[in-house]
Amino acid sequence: MTQDEMKKAAAVKALEFIQDGTIVGVGTGSTVNHFIDALAGIKGRIRGAVSSSEESSKRLKGHGIEVFDLNSVDVLDVYIDGADEVTEHLQMIKGGGAALTREKIVAAVAKTFICIVDDSKQVPVLGQFPLPVEVIPMARSYVARELVKLGGDPVYRQGVVTDNGNVILDVHNMDLSAPSEMEDKINALVGVVTNGLFAHRGADILITGSPQRVSVRE
Ligand code: 5RP
Repeated sequence: MTQDEMKKAAAVKALEFIQDGTIVGVGTGSTVNHFIDALAGIKGRIRGAVSSSEESSKRLKGHGIEVFDLNSVDVLDVYIDGADEVTEHLQMIKGGGAALTREKIVAAVAKTFICIVDDSKQVPVLGQFPLPVEVIPMARSYVARELVKLGGDPVYRQGVVTDNGNVILDVHNMDLSAPSEMEDKINALVGVVTNGLFAHRGADILITGSPQRVSVRE
């Protein structure tokens, strides 16, 4: 089984968590793209979706799935999204696709966060994957210096502008052994919009595709 087939298997499994007549929170990335394609097969059973990126909105609309503005939605039962790393405590690094801020907003609204991954994403401790930080453009150098003080090696993600018009710093070699504390410290820096640590609001359910099977952990 290829990595992409494992992503697809996890994504298809997530359909079992969708209730009829609901609006579904949809994340961003290659694993979520499989989910969106699978969701198209049951689109007559749902009201529509809330999306965490322009890329996912485009794919949803391409399948004829209505995309709602989050501000017009009171209740979101589930949010389905991938991750760059996930631990056994269901804390994550996200933002490899630069959609971290909108992902964090939709995840905050959803009652249940369902993370869909292939088994390469499971790690004992977060931090091998560089931590994405979304930054207001004029604060880029200042925030980079502050991230060095926190122990990281920030690298400007050249040529990337987020859906919110901001830039991304990818922070290497950061000690993330206390992820909730580091999430707070980075978010407290002036000029940071948010960072890709999903420690305070981790996933509630983890669906992992592996060569042997698809496992569900709640
Ligand atoms: C995008 C994300 C994605 O969920 C994360 O990068 C995983 O992507 P993929 O499913 O392509 O491996 O956080 O900002």
